[in-house]
Amino acid sequence: MAGQEVSNKQVILKDYVVGFPKESDMEFKTSKINLKLPEDSNGILLKNLYLSCDPYMRSRMTKHDRPTYVESFVPGSPIMGYGVSKVLDSRHPDYKVGDVVWGITGWEEYSLISSPQFFFKIEHTDVPLSYYTGILGMPGMTAYAGFYEVGSPKKGDRVFVSAASGAVGQLVGQLAKLNGCYVVGSAGSKEKVDLLKNKFGFDEAFNYKEEKDLDAALRRYFPEGIDIYFENVGGKMLEAVLSNMRLHGRIPTCGMISQYNLEQPEGVHNLFEIIAKRIRMEGFIVFDYYHLYPKYLEMILPHIREGKVSYVEDVAEGLESAPAALIGIYSGRNVGKQLVVVSRD
Ligand SMILES: NC(=O)c1ccc[n+]([C@@H]2O[C@H](COP(=O)([O-])OP(=O)(O)OC[C@H]3O[C@@H](n4cnc5c(N)ncnc54)[C@H](OP(=O)(O)O)[C@@H]3O)[C@@H](O)[C@H]2O)c1
Repeated sequence: MAGQEVSNKQVILKDYVVGFPKESDMEFKTSKINLKLPEDSNGILLKNLYLSCDPYMRSRMTKHDRPTYVESFVPGSPIMGYGVSKVLDSRHPDYKVGDVVWGITGWEEYSLISSPQFFFKIEHTDVPLSYYTGILGMPGMTAYAGFYEVGSPKKGDRVFVSAASGAVGQLVGQLAKLNGCYVVGSAGSKEKVDLLKNKFGFDEAFNYKEEKDLDAALRRYFPEGIDIYFENVGGKMLEAVLSNMRLHGRIPTCGMISQYNLEQPEGVHNLFEIIAKRIRMEGFIVFDYYHLYPKYLEMILPHIREGKVSYVEDVAEGLESAPAALIGIYSGRNVGKQLVVVSRD
């Protein structure tokens, strides 16, 4: 049966990106989409509600010479990313009309997903749905898996978190506090430093942009050294941290955002510290830990409901604001988790 055809506004990547991404690397296009799936489809038809702006998306804008953990976007096609969406039509046995899901969708009003195996059904709707782009979605799982599974925390550990006010960092700091650790965060503005200390309960925080000597700053906050460094930025911060790590320290290596837009990544010159101090530096990718998602929800939902964990979002209104919101995360314009509202219902 033929369904209703509607217009579908989309954010298109014009071409592969070199260096810092710009709004003009993306353009808007309006196409048509039928809200009824064809009978031979095995997919789902989504109405996109909230889109997530995530640092890894920069890698998808690059044409890679060698395969990496995510595929490049296809120039001329809509950008893809995590989002929260409502199922408008389904020909897949796992989803029914009216379900709300989070997973990888298109940067557009409606998306046809032909093989929907990477979606989580949202069961708990007493918390804001937008949280599933952040604390209850991929970034939340990243903080949880990176801190507990890779960081192996112990009560009393001294923990340092970079990009600490962002989607992942704000939760890592709070998990560390719940675990009885001493926690310091770095962020790029006074407003963010205040949030870390006054909203998220970090013991200390500093603005890395105002520190001439990062090594000295870390020595000030960690006179006895760092047990766990939750690595979000890489580059000069990583080098300064390595000099301040304690024996048998752990570095859950989550991201290196300071390097994502450089044509030539910076070198880190003191890697020997890893040997001398028997440091375990371990990279991880969140999707290797998605089997722990139900366990994570069980832990985090009561904390959110009881106000024991705080969460700050930076909300951009409308698909039109998506390109600016996305590129803003690479210059620290976001305060908290950056997301875009496409539609609230
Ligand atoms: N391994 C995984 O599976 C996984 C999953 C999710 C995220 N990640 C990684 O986790 C990190 C944080 O992600 P997120 O989603 O929480 O992002 P976010 O912190 O919410 O946003 C990015 C923040 O990075 C900081 N930043 C940008 N450019 C920087 C630079 N040159 N030097 C230092 N800081 C810079 C900015 O904060 P300031 O104002 O503080 O500079 C910006 O607000 C990223 O590295 C990301 O790639 C990894």
